[in-house]
Amino acid sequence: MSRLPAPPSTDPGSSLSGGTEVTPRPADLDPARLPRHIAVIMDGNGRWAARRGLPRVMGHRAGVATLKRMVRLCSDWGVGALTAYAFSTENWSRPGEEVNFLMTLFERVLSSEIDALVSEGVRIRFLGDLEALPASLQKSIDGATRRTATNSGIHFNVCTNYGSRRELVRAAQRLARRVCNGELDPEAISETDLAAELHTAGESDPDLLIRTSGEQRLSNFLLWQLAYAEIHITDVLWPDFDRACLASALRDYQGRQRRFGGVMTS
Ligand code: IPE
Ligand code: IPE
Ligand code: MG
Repeated sequence: MSRLPAPPSTDPGSSLSGGTEVTPRPADLDPARLPRHIAVIMDGNGRWAARRGLPRVMGHRAGVATLKRMVRLCSDWGVGALTAYAFSTENWSRPGEEVNFLMTLFERVLSSEIDALVSEGVRIRFLGDLEALPASLQKSIDGATRRTATNSGIHFNVCTNYGSRRELVRAAQRLARRVCNGELDPEAISETDLAAELHTAGESDPDLLIRTSGEQRLSNFLLWQLAYAEIHITDVLWPDFDRACLASALRDYQGRQRRFGGVMTS
């Protein structure tokens, strides 16, 4: 297998902003037709590391740097929300060392980035079954969520111990509880009621799903919310996903006709 050098910009300890300069949106993108909400399956960290002869976890470190870049670019270019898949309910099946590394990484990055998130107006939330996470990580998540709750900038959602099927079961349980309490008529349960019990409640559905590393599957991500998302799959591995990759995903998106089951009128 060929070995590639590690790129220089992989330090997840540097600040979110990396400076305060706004990166201009590529001129060929129509600002009126940007996705309001982008969801991303950040895949390929392990392969990125393996290709360089590095341990898999180095790919996760590099992946954090990419995620920081993405939040900033989406914010600069006028995307209202970014939802990133960081750890699935199925990822616990990975070797304990890798899982522990990821949990520590999440906590470390959160503590190094929280001030930048606050000052840049990012509203961060963590979506998933958070109670199963290490107590110290839960505490950092709680602090970051509270400190940024009233921020008016980009909504940055990090799906951590997230699984869409578990989310849907939880929503069903919550609705059932309301029925049992006499608060809800089962016949009257609507799509809006169900959506309101999901972790993503209050967020618009993603308009665009990006998956890196070429895999063509959802891997239990936002099964309900992605019903009408446009899907962009790239072979680029997540740590290599850069500004040009985001621009080409947005160009791809802007070239699509979204019909939502209807027909084009013009
Ligand atoms: C995605 O990269 C990150 C997480 C799932 C945490 P992977 O770790 O899945 O990388 P590959 O797919 O093995 O290359
Ligand atoms: C999906 O990637 C989960 C995250 C990106 C967090 P995986 O690497 O876990 O997905 P599969 O196993 O290839 O479907
Ligand atoms: Mg993977």
